[in-house]
Amino acid sequence: MQNPYLPYPVRIDDITVESEDRNLKTFKFVFLNPDDEAKFAYRAGQFAELSIAGVGEIPIGIASSPVEKGFIKFTVNKAGVVTSRLHNMQVGDIMGVRGPLGNWYPWDLLEGKNVLIVGGGFAFTTLRSSIIYMLDPANRKKFNDISVVYGARSPGMLLYKNELIEWEKRDDINMHITVDGTKDPDWKYNVGFVPPITEQKAPPGDENSYAIVCGPPIMIKFTQPVLEKLGYDHDHIILSLENRMKCGIGMCGRCGIGRELVCKDGPVFTLAQVNRTPREY
Ligand SMILES: Cc1cc2nc3c(=O)[nH]c(=O)nc-3n(C[C@H](O)[C@H](O)[C@H](O)COP(=O)(O)OP(=O)(O)OC[C@H]3O[C@@H](n4cnc5c(N)ncnc54)[C@H](O)[C@@H]3O)c2cc1C
Ligand code: FES
Repeated sequence: MQNPYLPYPVRIDDITVESEDRNLKTFKFVFLNPDDEAKFAYRAGQFAELSIAGVGEIPIGIASSPVEKGFIKFTVNKAGVVTSRLHNMQVGDIMGVRGPLGNWYPWDLLEGKNVLIVGGGFAFTTLRSSIIYMLDPANRKKFNDISVVYGARSPGMLLYKNELIEWEKRDDINMHITVDGTKDPDWKYNVGFVPPITEQKAPPGDENSYAIVCGPPIMIKFTQPVLEKLGYDHDHIILSLENRMKCGIGMCGRCGIGRELVCKDGPVFTLAQVNRTPREY
């Protein structure tokens, strides 16, 4: 059995600056040993520990999708020590990826259901993975209606702009892009925070509908009553938590909320499960 603390060596194959403030970058990695790609088999919603030798390790959601082969992608906000070092790295540099870690969105349960995705800011990463997975020609028929409400502070802060435009054009996904505000006279999408736009645009919930919500805690807090009003039960609202972590594999106890370890039992929980833990959201 492989040591669970050992990362796979990867090479940075491409770097995309996502946001106008240049603090959000997407890193595309390829495995140095081709066999490692098969060992890193993941589902949309999981995360991995990115490691830079001599600097540290950080948990980051997997932004690529299992249906995209030959590489893995992560979108990283420049926050502190490790993320700043990563932002200074170049194409061709070598680092480590440990994972995949944690659970994933409940794909078997979501089959045949309507799926509403609600995302805010740079927490859209595993939601991108999920949308690409659901829209894949081999998977699209497994899901009923797919709706997305995605918001950022301004147009320049939206992630994956080219893909958003492509998804907007499709008739098998209902896109509702929004920004908190903009002075751009050509902006043709919504203006407003994610919770009110969700209230205006999202389809009502029922026993055949699930909502996956990822964003800053304040967005989650104000989206929750909106989803309740729309008819989504707490066990049909799925969240991904981002508690502080260390080992990522359930050994150190750093990420505990109540009896749950977010790295191992999560990061994906229903709101009903979160409600049974000491409150953070
Ligand atoms: C499951 C999971 C998935 C994540 N996915 C992503 C992702 O896709 N993209 C992304 O950019 N970030 C993601 N994060 C957050 C990311 O792990 C932290 O931003 C990162 O660890 C900061 O590392 P650092 O060494 O640069 O910062 P540090 O030097 O450790 O800290 C810098 C600042 O960031 C704060 N910070 C550190 N860790 C966290 C955290 N977990 N949550 C909130 N604030 C934190 C510190 O308090 C400090 O203010 C995720 C976290 C988890 C647990
Ligand atoms: S991070 Fe160590 S137990 Fe979760």
